[in-house]
Amino acid sequence: MDWDGLSMQRLLPFFLSNLVMVDSAAEVIAAMGRGEVSAKSVEDEYVNGVYEEIAGHFSATRHTPWPRIAAFMESIPAGSLTADVGCGNGKYLPLNAGRSFNIGSDRSANLVSICRGRGGLESLVADNLVLPFRSAAFDCAISIAVIHHFSSPHRRLLAVTELCRIVRPGGRILIYVWALEQDSKKFKEPDNFVSWTLQPQFAAASSSPSAPSSSSSSGANKKAAKKTRKSKTADDATSLHSQRQQEQQHQQKQQGSSSSSSTPTQLPENKRGEPGGEEPRPSSEPVVYQRFYHVFRKGELEELLQESGMATIVDSGYDHENWFVVAQRL
Ligand SMILES: C[S@@+](CC[C@H](N)C(=O)[O-])C[C@H]1O[C@@H](n2cnc3c(N)ncnc32)[C@H](O)[C@@H]1O
Repeated sequence: MDWDGLSMQRLLPFFLSNLVMVDSAAEVIAAMGRGEVSAKSVEDEYVNGVYEEIAGHFSATRHTPWPRIAAFMESIPAGSLTADVGCGNGKYLPLNAGRSFNIGSDRSANLVSICRGRGGLESLVADNLVLPFRSAAFDCAISIAVIHHFSSPHRRLLAVTELCRIVRPGGRILIYVWALEQDSKKFKEPDNFVSWTLQPQFAAASSSPSAPSSSSSSGANKKAAKKTRKSKTADDATSLHSQRQQEQQHQQKQQGSSSSSSTPTQLPENKRGEPGGEEPRPSSEPVVYQRFYHVFRKGELEELLQESGMATIVDSGYDHENWFVVAQRL
């Protein structure tokens, strides 16, 4: 057996079961379909590992609450306890804060660290699938742009079920997920990779150990994120290119600003360091990450809630390229 560096690269996936060694988004999705890659490992690498790396940059592009979500928050009765699950940088946590008590949770330790740094925002590191809250502890819960990051139907159902579990009977739940049928450009497939270009000025901050030392995931995710590699097929490049435009438009619409990242179609090979490679990254060069998105078709979010059997739908619709649902806990 040849044990040179190249062979080790090929063999590494068999030794490191939670790391994915693939060349394109299409390959990852195909590997998922064949059961060769677990849904959790896809999220570790293409969701959680990425948010840890891009936390500072992501946060800098997330400051304006969407009106409908703000209205939901403002409508929450005084004295209520509200959970924002997958709160990101906590942009919704200050809303209605004088009247209700809001607690944010997110799997990204770096984003939670940013929340805490904003002062007066209650937040903690927690996985949506195993929330550290008692059942029925909250009067309301919101989940904004989180459920679409779960990469299997079963895990999306678990995420919604867990979100409902923490809300008391009669309490309200607001969920937003990316729509497949977006106005600007339709996705061709439900499962996609959407790129994020980490601008160099944020790369240093993201790599710094800003996360609380209690974080168990950031180190592993950082390592996993480095495994993301250049896309090779023309089809893949095309699909990612269209996603790039979509992401840019989405971010610009959402923020009303041009500060969001641009998203070239391909990952610079070896810029993130290949297994065994310790090549230093030039600080002036942006790094492109891929995030997994399951974009929901019309009605799919409602079906998911119905399948949970834990809530009835009070309102639903389309807003800012997302499907949303307001549900009442049974
Ligand atoms: C698109 S961001 C949305 C953040 C925030 N809700 C907002 O609207 O600005 C997705 C968020 O989901 C979080 N997330 C992804 N998977 C998660 C999981 N399993 N548990 C908790 N949070 C998760 C990410 O860390 C990230 O903060």
